[in-house]
Amino acid sequence: MFSGKARAYTNIALIKYWGKEDQELIIPMNSSLSLTLDAFYTETQVIFSEDLTEDRFYLDNQLQDSKATVKVSRFLDLVRSQARSSLYAVVKSQNFVPTAAGLASSASGLAALAGAASAALKLDLAPEDLSRLARRGSGSACRSIYGGFAEWQKGNSDQTSRAVKVPSNNFENDLSMIFVVVNDAKKDISSRDGMQRTVETSAFYDGWLQTVPQDLARAKKAIIEKDFNTLGKVTEASALKMHGTTLAANPPFTYWSAESMQVMDLVRQLRNNGLPCYFTMDAGPNVKILVERKNENALLHALSSQLNYQHLVVAHAGPAIEILPEDAPLPSF
Ligand code: ADP
Ligand code: DP6
Repeated sequence: MFSGKARAYTNIALIKYWGKEDQELIIPMNSSLSLTLDAFYTETQVIFSEDLTEDRFYLDNQLQDSKATVKVSRFLDLVRSQARSSLYAVVKSQNFVPTAAGLASSASGLAALAGAASAALKLDLAPEDLSRLARRGSGSACRSIYGGFAEWQKGNSDQTSRAVKVPSNNFENDLSMIFVVVNDAKKDISSRDGMQRTVETSAFYDGWLQTVPQDLARAKKAIIEKDFNTLGKVTEASALKMHGTTLAANPPFTYWSAESMQVMDLVRQLRNNGLPCYFTMDAGPNVKILVERKNENALLHALSSQLNYQHLVVAHAGPAIEILPEDAPLPSF
């Protein structure tokens, strides 16, 4: 029996990943940049054993159906092939993040799976190689290997497409991200399907691709110079452009709800009234607001007085993936 455990934190992209050049290898169309967060994470244990005749996948203590298990099995095949093993595994995972609600469970979930499975089979991967492996499960997972800011450099092959840490002068510690959870139900269109439809059909997709390199360069410069307003502006612009592409897809779609638009409007208003804050959104209706830590309480106060029905979660920069000792207690198992 070979067991491994890992804890990985979600990340939210400031410069979005949206579209794949290679769907099998998960090579993206554009590079992206994210902030790993402390508030949402996944803990996973993988046990490979000679006694098993198939893979089994438990998520939040529930045995998953064959569709969910096949995804995990395909990922384990990559790890088995690297380790030259043919053992089946039991995967037990606990999401401390709503699953498939646009709150990045795929990032923490697949990063934790990569960490736990590779530790179980003693692959001893360097961070960039663990990032490449996690990428094969879900693109955004490759950034959750690192704490703080990470850049997924698109590359053009399995070898060259991976995330790296972004030099930051510890700017991440000056930041907060407030999640306005307007709806944490499972979304209708997964990021995977949404981005593919957009690549294939959106009249705006080329426009999206053209502006990413300059947005990314601007974001990295703003991070190293600790220039909050420039980072906020480019973050908000990247999200708006990404979501713009979905409106020109065929059939068109949007992840925004009336509540999302209300929150985005409020952020603009607060900013006009002198509170610097900027929003971003992913493949779901929830809005994430970037604010300087020194203004976190002022923003929370404004949000809770004006959006009293909404659920707010405060996040700060989170740590890198943690490979846990074999005897580490995992709360739910
Ligand atoms: P999200 O916005 O939560 O990232 P996605 O639709 O992009 O939503 O991804 C959700 C998918 O990620 C799930 O359907 C499942 O396949 C995978 N996933 C989420 N959590 C885990 C986990 N803990 N272990 C393995 N796979 C997971
Ligand atoms: C909007 O990483 O979930 O959150 O690679 O198909 O698993 P797959 O997609 P996923 O997409 C994330 C899209 C996004 C933007 C981002 O995180 O960069």
